[in-house]
Amino acid sequence: MTDVITPTRQYWEDFYRNPDRTHSPVGKLNALLVAEAGTLTPGTALDLGCAEGSDSIWLARQGWRVTAVDVSATALGRAAARAAEEGVADRIDWQRHDLPQSFPAGEFDLVSAQFLHSPDDQGGTREAILRRAAEAVAPGGALLISGHAGWPTWRHEPPQGIHLPSTAEVLASLRLAPGRWQVERDELLVRESAGPDGEVGTREDNILRIRRLRRDVS
Ligand SMILES: C[S@@+](CC[C@H](N)C(=O)[O-])C[C@H]1O[C@@H](n2cnc3c(N)ncnc32)[C@H](O)[C@@H]1O
Repeated sequence: MTDVITPTRQYWEDFYRNPDRTHSPVGKLNALLVAEAGTLTPGTALDLGCAEGSDSIWLARQGWRVTAVDVSATALGRAAARAAEEGVADRIDWQRHDLPQSFPAGEFDLVSAQFLHSPDDQGGTREAILRRAAEAVAPGGALLISGHAGWPTWRHEPPQGIHLPSTAEVLASLRLAPGRWQVERDELLVRESAGPDGEVGTREDNILRIRRLRRDVS
């Protein structure tokens, strides 16, 4: 792993160094992960963009052995402290990677990328990370990708230049080998979304759960 400070790393370090900013606060349960991973037999899991560790800790509590990755050392430090408090430190390996530069070794029964968005998602970076994520799924394992599909309705001037892809776009960009994968869930979801100043609205997210088949069925 190189120790280069890329713009992505700098952005997320600055983000997490502000103690008021969080992506994965204590007690926050990711309903999409709970619904999908809750039906799987625990094995090994890779959590990409784990932030302060809520998903990884939840997975560890369900019996998974987790490799948890984030670009921010600050986020990982908070996550590891929480895991220790919750008694699951021995089930989670926290690794700092800037994923386009380096990626954890190995294959996993579950590879999870939950809202792995970044302000510099342009230029195919996220797509390349997700392709590498698919390569890390063990035969018989699952790739779970959740993402934002639109901006909150109360946000009238959304950032320019950030594309939030549909599941069809994500699937196409994965370039999965024909006959070797099965799409188990492909859905657009609309949820309530509250703004920082009490605004009320909705936001669209999408979810893909894709199974790597044990045998080629083509
Ligand atoms: C929008 S937050 C989502 C966090 C969490 N997965 C969730 O669902 O709440 C994106 C996370 O991905 C991390 N991240 C963004 N780009 C990354 C990269 N290139 N390599 C590793 N982690 C990255 C950020 O530090 C941040 O914690």
